[in-house]
Amino acid sequence: MCGIVGFTGAAPAAPILLEGLRRLEYRGYDSAGVAVQHEGAIEMVKASGTVEHLAEMTSNGAALEGGCGIAHTRWATHGAPTDTNAHPHLSEDGRFAVVHNGIIENYAALRRELEGEGYSFASETDTEVVAHLLERYYDGDLRRAVMRTASRLEGSYVLGVLCACEPGRLFCVKEAGPLILGLGVDENYFASDVTALVGYTRNVIYLEDGEMAELTPESVTVYDRTGREIPKSVSHVVWDIEAAEKGGYEHFMMKEIMEQPRAVKSTIEPRIRSGRVELEGLDLTAEDFARFRRIVITACGSAYHAGMVGKYVIESLCRVPVEVDLASELRYRDPIVGEDTLLIVVSQSGETADTIAALRECKARGAYVLAIVNVVGSTIARLADCALYTHAGPEIAVATTKGYTTQLSALYLFAVWAAEKLGRIDEMRYNELVAELSALPARIQRAIDLNLHVKYLAGRWHAQRAMFFIGRNIDYAAALEGSLKLKEISYIHSEAYAAGELKHGTIALIDEGRLVVALCCQTALFEKMVGNIQEVKARGAKVLGLAPEGDRRIFAEADDVLFAPGGEPLFAAAPEIVPLQLFAYYVARENGCDIDKPRNLAKSVTVE
Ligand code: M6R
Repeated sequence: MCGIVGFTGAAPAAPILLEGLRRLEYRGYDSAGVAVQHEGAIEMVKASGTVEHLAEMTSNGAALEGGCGIAHTRWATHGAPTDTNAHPHLSEDGRFAVVHNGIIENYAALRRELEGEGYSFASETDTEVVAHLLERYYDGDLRRAVMRTASRLEGSYVLGVLCACEPGRLFCVKEAGPLILGLGVDENYFASDVTALVGYTRNVIYLEDGEMAELTPESVTVYDRTGREIPKSVSHVVWDIEAAEKGGYEHFMMKEIMEQPRAVKSTIEPRIRSGRVELEGLDLTAEDFARFRRIVITACGSAYHAGMVGKYVIESLCRVPVEVDLASELRYRDPIVGEDTLLIVVSQSGETADTIAALRECKARGAYVLAIVNVVGSTIARLADCALYTHAGPEIAVATTKGYTTQLSALYLFAVWAAEKLGRIDEMRYNELVAELSALPARIQRAIDLNLHVKYLAGRWHAQRAMFFIGRNIDYAAALEGSLKLKEISYIHSEAYAAGELKHGTIALIDEGRLVVALCCQTALFEKMVGNIQEVKARGAKVLGLAPEGDRRIFAEADDVLFAPGGEPLFAAAPEIVPLQLFAYYVARENGCDIDKPRNLAKSVTVE
């Protein structure tokens, strides 16, 4: 979604701002712009299209002089992705420039009010009201003008503000949506994503909702809503710039698929000490646990699919009822959640708007919140009662891969840990499961190594108009994710179904030559899956079977075969998703799709 960068220092701002925007490209956007202070005025360039286009228009920033500025990548919400609607937006007198992430819900009323006072609007955006409000409220005190402006806004917003008459001074405001300050030597930054900063500084301050910061080259000051200065602690980011680069791969997605063994190892290994699962920060005792009558898992997209797998695994090992709910649904359905509920919130970015809202809703009702999250210091991590970080490193491709498998790993760890706490598994089973957890990175590596012919299969099947994914139990949950991977990057219509449900309607869609991907890694249900495979074949479908390595029975059933290494079936989703990620990747590549930045999608969905 939209990205924001701000810089103030002695160096020319525009090249730094453009570099920051490049680092934010992965979030998804459709226009970009930059504004800098120069000799008491604001110079601005903005256009629909790419950051590279913006760089060309400004000779990579050299055409814009000045050491203080703001920049933005826009993902259109209010108004089409045109040059005019691109950010920054200027006040009518040209003294204020604003960049904005989020949605200003009362913008229509504010616009009417401002138009009534004679302000004229150049764009269709909700953001432009902010620039005009700043002009209206500025009386020589920029901080007061920013505060008064913010107090008029409803909705979710992160703002970056530049004023022509305040040399070297920047303001930023956070009200829902990420905003991070970067601290340099005689220069300071702000950005909506830490990846825009790590090339320049690792020392950062995470702002909370309702906070505002004032930046000059020498100082950073944070204020609360009332204008009171507040102390903030400085965090050190451990990700380095290489972690956010392609490292020789054609696409981030492929790099991230290949990183999965290492990423999963980072999630699991530090949490197994002397053969025991230890979840630092999750200091719930067996008695604390006993008060939870139910577990609710909430998330969006792939994280929700990870939650589906989590439900099967936790219920099987802990014998506690688990409900999985889409965050966008949970937040509006008056959920039955209270102090007897453990809420598990799953999110790679930690900034997904619906997930944050569902978390807040359940927390207000008394739920204890455990976050499974990748980005340290993210909003979800900070709102939760405790966080289990997935340590996947930065995930740049819009289609999540290592984000998903590390979420699975964290859910597996939690399930084994909780089952032991609750006394639901004996020592032998516990030791077996711990050994299986430790073996997971190698199992994922084997899944990668086993499937070198996926590229060939993608060549065979990439022209399909639609595909179906079927499975039972955990295979069904993995089918949902396999299907999402395919549709989001290749734009091929695809659906996942619980295999037993086919004959209740969906089988009507099966026609001659239609590809059905049949996940058969739950060995106890293999025969049931054979029945479903036969049903679709009898109606003309072709079947791509996915089975545990060495299970030769699949050859008799499927037209083509993929394998995932065998092992504990409860943990099968992590290795079995790998061939499906690769399949989606190669199909999309065959079809010439923009794999890392699929159309209409954003990496981090920070608006509802
Ligand atoms: O950052 P989150 O895990 O909260 O994101 C949730 C979804 O938007 C995300 O998983 C999305 O479905 C994936 N990009 C799909 O690959």
